[in-house]
Order: sequence, then C-alpha cells, then structure tokens
Amino acid sequence: MSFENIQWTWMNGEFVPWAESTVPLSTHALHYGTGVFEGIRSYLVDGEPAIFRLDAHLDRFYKSAAVYGLRIPFSPTQLTEAICGLIRRNGLTESYIRPIAYMGAETLGIRAQCSTDTAILAWPQMVHVSEQSRRRGARLTVSPYRKFDARMMPTTAKACGQYLNSRLATMEASRRGYDEALLLNIDGNVAEAAVANIFLVNGRTLHTNDDKSSILMGITRDSILQLAVAEGFRVEVGTITVDDLRQADEVFLCGTACEIVPVAELDGSKIGRTSPGPVTEQICRAFDLAKTGTSLEWRHWLHPVAEMQVAGLRC
Ligand SMILES: Cc1ncc(COP(=O)(O)O)c(C=O)c1O
Repeated sequence: MSFENIQWTWMNGEFVPWAESTVPLSTHALHYGTGVFEGIRSYLVDGEPAIFRLDAHLDRFYKSAAVYGLRIPFSPTQLTEAICGLIRRNGLTESYIRPIAYMGAETLGIRAQCSTDTAILAWPQMVHVSEQSRRRGARLTVSPYRKFDARMMPTTAKACGQYLNSRLATMEASRRGYDEALLLNIDGNVAEAAVANIFLVNGRTLHTNDDKSSILMGITRDSILQLAVAEGFRVEVGTITVDDLRQADEVFLCGTACEIVPVAELDGSKIGRTSPGPVTEQICRAFDLAKTGTSLEWRHWLHPVAEMQVAGLRC
C-alpha cells in the first residue's frame, strides 16, 4: 500500500493536498485512540466507480461516533459528496476509502470533550490478503489474545483504540507463520478474525455469529447473509465453537479489506476437502456479480461516484 500517488485528502470540509493533511501532536485521538473510522470500497461498475454499501458504512460510522460521544459535524449527504468528490479529484476507480472522525487537539485530559475532526483518505488498493491465501485458502491460528467483551469496549463500534487488540493478535500470528489470527471471546467461543468476520458451511447451510459473540457487525457479513439466501442456502446465526470450525465442510473469512477469503487450515488441521470449497466459490461469484453491478438485484448497494447533472445543476 502506498500513498505516493494520492494527491488529495478531505479534512473538515476542505480538500487538502495529501502532504499537508497533518494533525497536531496534541491530537487527543493520537494519544488515547479516541476516534472512529470506516473502511469502504469503490468498484468499477459500467466503467465508472461506484461505492459499495455506502449508506450502511455511514450509518455504522455515526453509530460508532455516538458510542464515544463524538459529534460528527457533517451530515451523511455532506460526507457522501465529500467521498465522491475525493475519488473524482484523485482520479480513482477501484479504491479503498477511509473516513475517520476523531477528538481534536485542544486538550489531552481524559475527561475533556474536544471538537470532533473529520477526515477522509482514499487510495487505489487495500491489500490485506496475499494472492496465495485468496487462491489456496488462508492458514488460520487461534490467537492467545482474546477478543474484548462488550462490557470492556463495545465491539460493535469501529473505534481506533480498539484495534490494538487486532494488531497484537495479527503480529503474534505472523510471528508463528500464520496468515490470520482467530480470536475467541471471553467465553472461549469463536468471535472473529483480527479484521474480518467468519462463516462456516455445512452442506447447504451457512453459519455465522453475531454481536453476542463479541464481533464487529460486518457489512460484508450482512451482504453475504443476504446473497446466501438469494442463492438458495439456509443461514443460521448463533454461537460458533472451535470444534464447529474444525468439523465444517468449509470456512471463510469476510470483510471489506479481504472481501471473501477461504480458510484452508486451522492450526495445521485441514478444513474440508478442498479449498476453496464449492459453496465458498459460489458465494464469491455472487459477491463479485453484486459488487460490479452485474446482478441487477443488488444495484441498490452501489452508489455512483459520477457527478449527476440535473437540468444544468450539479448535484
Ligand atoms: C474487527 C473487524 N471485524 C469484522 C470486519 C468486517 O467488517 P466489514 O465487512 O464491515 O468490513 C472488520 C473490518 O473492518 C473488522 O475490523
């Protein structure tokens, strides 16, 4: 990932050259992680960029902010315009978009209420998973780090400081030569991977868990649940154990950054007969058709980036 070719960012209502989009050293969020963010993608749809599930991402952005008492001083319409404008200015097509709202620089008191700064960064590619993991399946390991419980920090908020947990688990898994860390919750059941949700497949049924298992409620997870039903699969949402994963026909991870990644093994034990399995492949195909606007049924998930001209007005 490189930001060298990114010319513009957006900060507090203005487009700002990337090199000038800096924050003061006293920024509260830098010290205490008091910020919230989103990870969103745009895809090429009919030769033009379109943003995947923008409304759902913005909805989660405002909800995450509310949890931490951050008041984002821009409306969803203003942020939508800012995101689309940023993609156009940078000449991006397929891109990864990172809005962030964070406590500003007036004071470093833990009790203080600073202003909320809002910024957006967008760049061409977010490579979270190697091509090999995508093709042959990722090697997953159960992390010695547990996913925090909602009584410690609200798992449904996508907040900056919360990612220290993901970072520790990812570093530890990498040190032991694994592709991805699987975090268990405090009850010892499966929560999620460091930055992705998890599904298992048995026959024609897809299983995943929900917020009761200490997960971020992923938007890719939600898209897959809807796609799976449309593809004629049964879906079940509830607790998943490590044994459930070991005995599953197929397991895959999903998230905006990794999209859908088959899991080939868990701590050295192979999962299922082939990786990727046939159901994972079918879901991947359905997801690809949806994100590129090829399936008309899911076109409402895509927000066009192009400026619309209505009777000579720009909107
Ligand atoms: C901890 C965590 N879980 C799950 C996900 C997947 O969420 P989404 O599909 O909305 O990207 C992410 C990705 O941001 C994540 O960071």
